[in-house]
Amino acid sequence: HRQEETGDVLDRIAHVEVMQNLPPSEAQAIVPLLKPISIKEGEALFHEGDKGDSFYMIIHGEAEVKKGEKVMTTLGSGEVFGEMALLNSEPRSATVIASTDMDVYQLKQEHFDDVLLKSPSIANALSRALAKRLRSTTAS
Ligand code: CMP
Repeated sequence: HRQEETGDVLDRIAHVEVMQNLPPSEAQAIVPLLKPISIKEGEALFHEGDKGDSFYMIIHGEAEVKKGEKVMTTLGSGEVFGEMALLNSEPRSATVIASTDMDVYQLKQEHFDDVLLKSPSIANALSRALAKRLRSTTAS
């Protein structure tokens, strides 16, 4: 199928929370690094304990984050996942399963590392997203 146009990709990532308010040059730099992937309802993106090699942005659809049988949260359009294993080189902390058909953008580890070094606004946004996750996970 046809190659995605840069403008289309920019429009889609404009809805991703950690990509909000990016300087256009930073947004454009990331576009060629993103790989679009479609996932069917019920498919696992990866499993708890796997070695992590990619970061994901949800463009469309929803996924469950599960630790063992426990559903930790549901993630939807504009949210991201898979950052934790890449940030501290530990195994995947949870299993992520598509609860609907999904379209995601995948960013490989080496590109993710590079993006964080070159784009302080993404690094900051990711830190904020992590703090929010930690807060909701530890809330009683
Ligand atoms: P990672 O550990 O690479 O793989 C599983 C992903 O699920 C993790 O990165 C986060 O993106 C996400 N995740 C894990 N725990 C939570 C949580 N408590 N709330 C939201 N997302 C989570």
